[in-house]
Amino acid sequence: MVLDDLLHKSDLSKEELAFLLQLQSKADLEKLITRADEVRKQYCGDEVHLRGIIEFSNNCEQECLYCGLRKGNYALIRYRMNEEEILRAAKDIIALGIKTIVLQSGEDFYYSGSYFARVIRGIKNIADVAVTLSVGEREFTDYKLWRQAGADRYLLKHETANPKLYSIYHQRQKLLDRIKHLRFLKSIGFQIGSGNIIGLPHQTLEDIADDILLCKELNVDMASFSPFIPSENTPYSSKEQCSVELAVKTLAVTRIVLRDSHIPATTALATIHPHGRELALQAGANIIMPNFTPQPYKGNYLIYANKNRADDDDAGYLERIKKVITSAGRKIGETPGHSLKMKNVQLTIKQ
Ligand code: 5AD
Repeated sequence: MVLDDLLHKSDLSKEELAFLLQLQSKADLEKLITRADEVRKQYCGDEVHLRGIIEFSNNCEQECLYCGLRKGNYALIRYRMNEEEILRAAKDIIALGIKTIVLQSGEDFYYSGSYFARVIRGIKNIADVAVTLSVGEREFTDYKLWRQAGADRYLLKHETANPKLYSIYHQRQKLLDRIKHLRFLKSIGFQIGSGNIIGLPHQTLEDIADDILLCKELNVDMASFSPFIPSENTPYSSKEQCSVELAVKTLAVTRIVLRDSHIPATTALATIHPHGRELALQAGANIIMPNFTPQPYKGNYLIYANKNRADDDDAGYLERIKKVITSAGRKIGETPGHSLKMKNVQLTIKQ
């Protein structure tokens, strides 16, 4: 099939996705990216939504082979922010005009379900902003509690849709559980985010195609596909980094398949390329998630090497990100930027 037809076909198969992911020539890549940008414009418009992240704890019970936060990394200086510190950080983000607060951490069971429920209510009391949780797999009763406290979204990447690879990377966790959790979160009214890490050891283009198809099957409200960056003091510290080209191709193909899901220009892509955010915005992305973790903690959330490179900590940080958006001919979102899939869906909390 000719490329132009493929780029306009609906319900692309796994083989067709893998074919798109292996495109090499400049002309083909240009076609792919142009089509992704067209789909983004048609389904998502020109707004780029900002999500302010607070990485409030880098403690983690898991041992993911690729991640610098893994429990076995004794070289990492660990920290935990308390309720007061998290709320202060949220207030600072809200004062900047950002309408989504993302609370992210390792899997840290120091924080109970009711602790987070208090934090969520605390943020919702400051202003009418969206709250996203990204704290790993927890009890279903906790998810319900947090939804009732007013949390809007849950980010839980599936990391890989290949069950064998999933078991290799995560050892203790199971892919089926992860999918069960995502489906449950969706069923109780969370907007869900999932996605993979691109270019992990042993991963093939067919695996990436399956990652995109799983996001489609789960009808994710956001899909985050970030390039693998080796992290010091992990079993994968000397594995090869994902290429910028594969990361951008994956974004473009994801946009073409998922259409109206939000897709972030990830910090990881901005870490491996000085213009990573620009490249992502051109290839289908419509979200940027600036990091507002306060000092002295910022800098210790080292999921991968050089993470701070894209996460500077000066007064001009947000302005530079806004400039990236406007220079790309796009608009800065002024609303919480809820899921585009929700337009006709009633948000109800099932008990
Ligand atoms: N490279 C890229 N992304 C990574 N993550 C963890 N480790 C790495 C790495 N080495 C991503 C995972 C995880 C999120 C917090 O960071 O997708 O879900």
